[in-house]
Amino acid sequence: MEQLIIEGGQKLHGRVKISGSKNAALAILAAAIMTKERVKLHNLPNITDVRVLIAILEDLGASIRRRGRNSIELRSPGLRSYSPPYDMVKKLRASYYLMGSLLARFGRAEVPIPGGCDFGPRPIDQHLKGFSALGTDIEIEHGLVKLRAEKLKAAHIYLDVVSVGATINLMLAATAAEGQTTIENASKEPEIVDAANFLSAMGASIKGAGTDVIRIKGGRPLFSANHTIIPDRIEAGSFMIAAVATDGEIVIEEVIPKHLEAVAAKLREAGAEIELQADRVRVKRGPQLLPVDIKTFVYPGFPTDLQPLAMTLLTAAEGTSVITENVFESRFHHVDELKRMGAQIKVEGRTAIIEGGPPLTGAPVKATDLRAGAAMLVGGFMGQGRTILSGVGQIYRGYEDIEAKLTRLGARLKRIRSSFPALPGESS
Ligand code: EPZ
Repeated sequence: MEQLIIEGGQKLHGRVKISGSKNAALAILAAAIMTKERVKLHNLPNITDVRVLIAILEDLGASIRRRGRNSIELRSPGLRSYSPPYDMVKKLRASYYLMGSLLARFGRAEVPIPGGCDFGPRPIDQHLKGFSALGTDIEIEHGLVKLRAEKLKAAHIYLDVVSVGATINLMLAATAAEGQTTIENASKEPEIVDAANFLSAMGASIKGAGTDVIRIKGGRPLFSANHTIIPDRIEAGSFMIAAVATDGEIVIEEVIPKHLEAVAAKLREAGAEIELQADRVRVKRGPQLLPVDIKTFVYPGFPTDLQPLAMTLLTAAEGTSVITENVFESRFHHVDELKRMGAQIKVEGRTAIIEGGPPLTGAPVKATDLRAGAAMLVGGFMGQGRTILSGVGQIYRGYEDIEAKLTRLGARLKRIRSSFPALPGESS
């Protein structure tokens, strides 16, 4: 099992370039097989989740050629299946986007029920409710979601829950449904806008992406398209928090400042100095690290994906902070790991109370999920002494070249292969 040895006390200084958005890339890759013509994608992050989805698309029959480190050329004139293999799908929750794109292409899709995650149940009831409204018959058996639509038809869909996945999945399927589909209570995340822009580049007619009402005029043919993925706002926010947490100073380049406003506002409240420029942001800790209250919320609120990193930062604040996790049912598994480093945190339901106190101390900890793993990296930089982080495979799922980027900023990291095999359910 791979581990990272992190030497604490390093202040991160310098410049870092942000990679393409994992969550936009996954949606757009799934959408790319909706046309039989050639698709070129640029600024794809070279991360595990993207590599897994590319392998799934190739298994379905798409031919994909790498054009440089972050670009591909995809053609799928003839897909051989609408049923991606379980052993690959189980590695990637976002495989559920294949339900929408295969439905749009074939009127059929058989996709294993996506795995749950560490944040409690991850239902897909809103996805299925929307597919059904679009004229899809749905059967769930042997762990498979079997979708069949003789002919997708436009519908007026009202999501009960603001869901990124459901919004994107239904936008994909609606692209093939004759007539105008309306999705109300849609998610407004930038990744939705990027996916809509890609679909439009292929010839779809989509209006309102980025607002809570999206209208799709479906049934139009889809053609060849070139598209560049937007920068990853969660990676950018992760480096912003790391700069403040280590009392360093980082210039984060190739960002879209608008996507970082909620994080910037909260870090400023904590006393940090944030300078948002055209395509970069300069971040450093202020004279004091002040306690703040954070409520995670759907975009443009404070992103749930940065909640574990913000919590880690606030263990060093001069006072008590309160974090409320409003998006997921239980996204506090990183609390136990932070406590091993000496953090004083109390969890009551969806609320965590963080007592700022003495600096964290290095300890053996594990990455319970992708963003919790990133939080443990920040904790290791902040901690006095050495931290041994297990389950680092989680981090490689969503952060491209993370060790090289951090080392260039002055972090002292060393990857080792521990002699202990990964326990069942633990990522390597
Ligand atoms: C996407 O997950 C992201 N993943 C997550 O990022 C992110 O945390 C999340 O959106 C929220 O921003 C990808 O884009 C691949 P949701 P998704 O559907 O789509 C409930 C990361 O680290 N819900 O917006 O699965 C759900 O339980 C990952 O990059 C239903 O009840 O999230 C949750 O409480 C982690 N029924 C809330 O909605 C449904 O049918 C938001 O989930 C769907 C969702």
